[in-house]
Amino acid sequence: MTKISKICCIGAGYVGGPTMSVIAKKCRDIQVTVVDLNEARIAAWNDPDVNNIPVYEPGLGAVVAEARGRNLFFSTEVDKAIDEAEMIFISVNTPTKTYGAGKGQAADLKWIELCARQIARVAKTDKIVVEKSTLPVRTASAIKDILAHTGSGCKFQILSNPEFLAEGTAIEDLNAPDRVLIGGDSTPEGQEAIQALVDIYANWVPRERILTTNIWSSELSKLVANAYLAQRVSSINSISELCEATEADVNEVARAIGADSRIGSKFLKASVGFGGSCFQKDILNLVYIARSYGLEEVADYWEQVILINDHQKRRFAHQIIKSSYNTVSGKKIAFLGWAFKKDTNDTRESAAIYVADHLLFEQAKITVYDPKVPESQVYSDLNYLGSRTSDENRLGVAVVDDPYEACKGAHAIAILTEWDEFKEYDWQRIYDNMNKPANVFDGRNLLDVAKLKEIGFQVKAIGKAC
Ligand code: UDX
Ligand code: ADP
Repeated sequence: MTKISKICCIGAGYVGGPTMSVIAKKCRDIQVTVVDLNEARIAAWNDPDVNNIPVYEPGLGAVVAEARGRNLFFSTEVDKAIDEAEMIFISVNTPTKTYGAGKGQAADLKWIELCARQIARVAKTDKIVVEKSTLPVRTASAIKDILAHTGSGCKFQILSNPEFLAEGTAIEDLNAPDRVLIGGDSTPEGQEAIQALVDIYANWVPRERILTTNIWSSELSKLVANAYLAQRVSSINSISELCEATEADVNEVARAIGADSRIGSKFLKASVGFGGSCFQKDILNLVYIARSYGLEEVADYWEQVILINDHQKRRFAHQIIKSSYNTVSGKKIAFLGWAFKKDTNDTRESAAIYVADHLLFEQAKITVYDPKVPESQVYSDLNYLGSRTSDENRLGVAVVDDPYEACKGAHAIAILTEWDEFKEYDWQRIYDNMNKPANVFDGRNLLDVAKLKEIGFQVKAIGKAC
């Protein structure tokens, strides 16, 4: 039986960093080395002050502080770590392709392929290679193919072990996962590799929560899990618009349907739209895969989840414009929140970016405050969208580190992220310093509408007719 003593993880991002930190914490006898090409990122992971690590995630700093230097290491020496490890996790980014065939839908696998080629080049002993990144179903066959032709005589087993952690709750999710999924070959060698990974998780995860499947089921399950979750958000968001037209309250509807145990209460929070690095990318991927098998109806069905999400972001921006006498040109709009959800500094696909883009198109002046997102990130998000030049963005967007400053003199405030601290603000003070009528657009159903109205605000919350 293979007993793993050294693990290497390629990619020190939002998945690789937290996941490996928790494995190192739970398995003191395993040396875990996380490598990345990005030197600045690795330097930040090694910062003596754990408040400066590159991923903000509640509880992560303490885990890193405990394990780093003991059996957890962050390094840029990719080859060395690959060479030493018996098990290699691939946790690199797989963004949506921005060029060529499948542009805008398919996953860009160039970083995955690079990793596979690097492992093939460096490895001198047999290895278990674990796909941690979310990948289109059947990617393992490409990795297998690359590794099978190394000529080094080394044997490789490929496993799929998708990560189900959600950002903002990563440490909780990793400590007590609903399930761990491991897919591998049905051959004796495949089963042995699966067992080696099961043994690692079994250090802290109850055995009945570790599911083993064939590799294709594991790869596809990750895409499907995200598609189902995103579908719930798009479903309730579609109902939020109907609520606004009928004076039903989306929170009350969510509570009423969520009490049905067949439906369940989670993922029923209406919002300005889902964001994050997974939902959109994975659904687009599912759509692309379905189309590539000629399954048009299946593709259309899932694509609708994205279309409702785009609509919800646009609709929110239009509400702001409409309530501002149909023009926001030159008006200051304050954004509270830029991250795609609370308790993370990740902004990938955040609804805030798209809402800002719509408003900038109408020449609004936007001032952003987010407790964890730096100014440079806001600008790079807007530039990445490619629809505005960086100079134009800088003219229209300011980023400040004080929420009261952000709201001062604003015509409207838009709540884009559900940070808890927003609830604690002195809203009377904010009101006093705003342009009147002072509008609040609560894209997260976060604030107490009655209280704000008492102060004098005009409030529009997602899914409420107010
Ligand atoms: C998701 C999956 O939950 C996780 O299992 C997977 O591993 C990666 O993708 P994540 O993207 O970190 O995790 O965040 P999640 O909590 O799922 O939220 C995604 C988006 O949906 C956020 O923008 C969030 O604000 C939004 N959302 C979520 C809602 O608008 N309403 C809800 O009820 C829930
Ligand atoms: P995720 O949310 O999936 O963790 P991130 O973008 O946060 O995605 O992290 C992926 C990391 O993988 C990045 O820090 C990137 O520099 C790193 N990476 C990508 N390709 C390679 C590679 N070939 N070798 C080492 N690191 C890589």
